[in-house]
Amino acid sequence: MATYDLVVIGTGPGGYVCAVRASQLGMKVAVVEKNATLGGTCLNVGCMPSKALLHASEMFEEAGHSFAKMGVSVSAPKLDLPAMMNFKQQGIDGNVKGVEFLMKKNKIDVLKGTGKILGTGKVEVSADGKSQLVETRNIVIATGSDIARLKGIEIDEKRIVSSTGALSLEKVPGKLLIVGAGVIGLELGSVWHRLGAEVVVVEFLDRILPGMDGEIAKQFQRILEKQGFAFKLGAKVTAVDTSGKTLKATIEPAAGGAAETLEADVVLVCIGRVPYTDALGLKEAGVALDNRGRVQIDPHFATSLKGVYAIGDVVAGPMLAHKAEDEGVAVAEIIAGQAGHVNYDVIPGVVYTTPEVSSVGKTEEELKQAGTAYTVGKFPFTANGRSKVNQTTDGFVKILADAKTDRVLGVHIIGREAGEMIHEAAVLMEFGGSAEDLARTCHAHPTRSEAIKEAALAVGKRAIHM
Ligand code: FAD
Ligand code: NAI
Repeated sequence: MATYDLVVIGTGPGGYVCAVRASQLGMKVAVVEKNATLGGTCLNVGCMPSKALLHASEMFEEAGHSFAKMGVSVSAPKLDLPAMMNFKQQGIDGNVKGVEFLMKKNKIDVLKGTGKILGTGKVEVSADGKSQLVETRNIVIATGSDIARLKGIEIDEKRIVSSTGALSLEKVPGKLLIVGAGVIGLELGSVWHRLGAEVVVVEFLDRILPGMDGEIAKQFQRILEKQGFAFKLGAKVTAVDTSGKTLKATIEPAAGGAAETLEADVVLVCIGRVPYTDALGLKEAGVALDNRGRVQIDPHFATSLKGVYAIGDVVAGPMLAHKAEDEGVAVAEIIAGQAGHVNYDVIPGVVYTTPEVSSVGKTEEELKQAGTAYTVGKFPFTANGRSKVNQTTDGFVKILADAKTDRVLGVHIIGREAGEMIHEAAVLMEFGGSAEDLARTCHAHPTRSEAIKEAALAVGKRAIHM
């Protein structure tokens, strides 16, 4: 029987980062992973493969559409989908190997198998019909999440797919029907649309990207429609008939009314994700769940069972890799007796489409609901010199600041590279900075980030280039 200071169940971004930090703090650590490869959803079937396909499909589209106007003359690009999938796989393999390296470098034992909590300090690891008991002072549950399913619609990962199947389609579908206008629907919809699919997105709500700032979401929808996306908002898919060569989806208005039928070659179901706690033995061990099936934790990530903690997608909060990572670091520090902490008010969110959408802090809707008096500063990329010369002027920056103190409460960007640009706002907000601070910070010219400075100036009604 081995004795560890910490056993982490799950090696996604939450789990492996937690293990590395705990090792840095002098703990003897093991991770348990049931999948053949380390890295969790993020590295294997999430963030990384989707970003590889977004990059490759964007290059394909650029080669076909924007090269000529810049004077770069190439023949029409031809799609080699197996090669593109190979590019994606190389990216996955490289990152998975990176996590394996980090485990070795930090002397973290990797226990391959399914972890089950038998009680405080006891984890059973089972693989291939054999099991071993591992003793440990502390346990961190980092088992992540799984796809949410639609009742009566069976995912076969060939014609009716989740994000996992949509990352590995064998050919470009003629018609792709997407259920859910959230992050996955818009990112993977972009991939297949760029490669030639006709894309229709059916969304239950009357808007896309719930949770994002409404004005940004509205403009984003218009841009996607201009690109060729079709949206059916306020509607739901209630059945998919798989009997014919083409799928027939029944669409009903969310508020009730007459149904219509839409044909598609592939249906992508992406209506959110649910916490994954199968096989952990939580009920028997006495680890409580909340009313949405997430592991219940206190502000220090402690569950209802002594010595057992939980982080990442399996607990409340945004299901984002960087949120899981930061919680991994915080819980390791707490276990080591330090003051680990995550600032949930400053967690950036990015949609990696073209243009990108990024956001940190409060949306305008949230400020209105809270009754907070705020000022708004906006600046469009059409007035940003660098965007103009590159002819990539879609989108704008929006800064929300406290009306009394000028403290920045939220920043929302739609535009190329918005996902990289958001972090100066995040740093500013971590330090409680004001729009004035941002406006008086020298920004290199010509950069797209100058639009952030201009939006900050616009909070004080003194933007220069508008
Ligand atoms: P996971 O990454 O889900 O890892 C959990 C691990 O635990 C898995 O490896 C699983 O096999 C293992 N496990 C589960 N139960 C057991 C058990 N009993 N025993 C042993 N092992 C077990 N987030 C972003 O921030 N940016 C993005 O761009 C992004 N893109 C995404 C794209 C897609 C298509 C999807 C599906 C998700 C994306 N996400 C993105 C979300 C991101 O992947 C998750 O938020 C993140 O992976 C959560 O990390 P985690 O460590 O909590 O869990
Ligand atoms: P999501 O929560 O982002 O979007 C789901 C959408 O489906 C919502 O708009 C919802 O209103 C809609 N919906 C729900 N039920 C429906 C129904 N029956 N019919 C029609 N529409 C319905 O979830 P998604 O896109 O599945 O992504 C899951 C998680 O993965 C997200 O929480 C996100 O945090 C994470 N993710 C993050 C990415 C990023 O950071 N770039 C990329 C991809 C995923």
